[in-house]
Amino acid sequence: MDKKANIARFETVMSAVQRPGLDKLLDYIRKSDFYTAPASTKYHLCCEGGLLQHSLNVLDALRTLLIAKDEEGSEWFYIVAGHPVATIPDESVIIAALLHDICKTYFYTTSWRNAKNEKTGKWEKVPFYTVDDKMPLGHGPKSAMIIKQYMELTTEEMYAIWWHMGFTDSTNDGLIIGQAIKKFPFILALNTADMMASHFMEGDTDNLPAFAQAPAPESAGEYADNPATSDGPQFEDAPPLDAGA
Ligand SMILES: [Fe+2]
Ligand SMILES: [Fe+2]
Repeated sequence: MDKKANIARFETVMSAVQRPGLDKLLDYIRKSDFYTAPASTKYHLCCEGGLLQHSLNVLDALRTLLIAKDEEGSEWFYIVAGHPVATIPDESVIIAALLHDICKTYFYTTSWRNAKNEKTGKWEKVPFYTVDDKMPLGHGPKSAMIIKQYMELTTEEMYAIWWHMGFTDSTNDGLIIGQAIKKFPFILALNTADMMASHFMEGDTDNLPAFAQAPAPESAGEYADNPATSDGPQFEDAPPLDAGA
């Protein structure tokens, strides 16, 4: 993980957003731990810079999930069975992807535990991340609220960020998220990209090898030209179900 390059890429991509208050939002981000925080305590990218890497991964996953409407990539179609169910401005794609987890700023702290050093056989104190939420306001809604303190969101962006956890959102009663997705399909696109990033692209301390090489800052997120990914990501398979037959 190239943390410096990730910060540069984030700032370059965000600078494409033309919206009042962006400078104040970026000021919040730079003063916070957004660039250094992990993405989780143990599930994915539980390492320094993990949250930023995850945010960029969601942008890449989302842009490759959607279909560019024009060559400039200023708008994207969310296509279902050949029909667009949503047309999404690139600015919304950037904002929703890069800021959906801004709720994780001021959220983690470092603790210490004893662990055996496999090489020396000695027990040592090693750091690990735990949650110490300084603004306990939930998850998706909290991200939307933090952004809206500095910069307006379109209705579609707010819904997408608010409900980006999809059906796993702890406040979902089984109906409301379905209703929200029908109104704003972008919610499902962001949720899918979020799942793609955390489940397919990310390991504990870095992206999985197939996704290790970041696209150029101006890239729409294509990995197709990267020979390392030409065969797709390599996952460890479980034995086939008929292995014992
Ligand atoms: Fe999230
Ligand atoms: Fe996320």
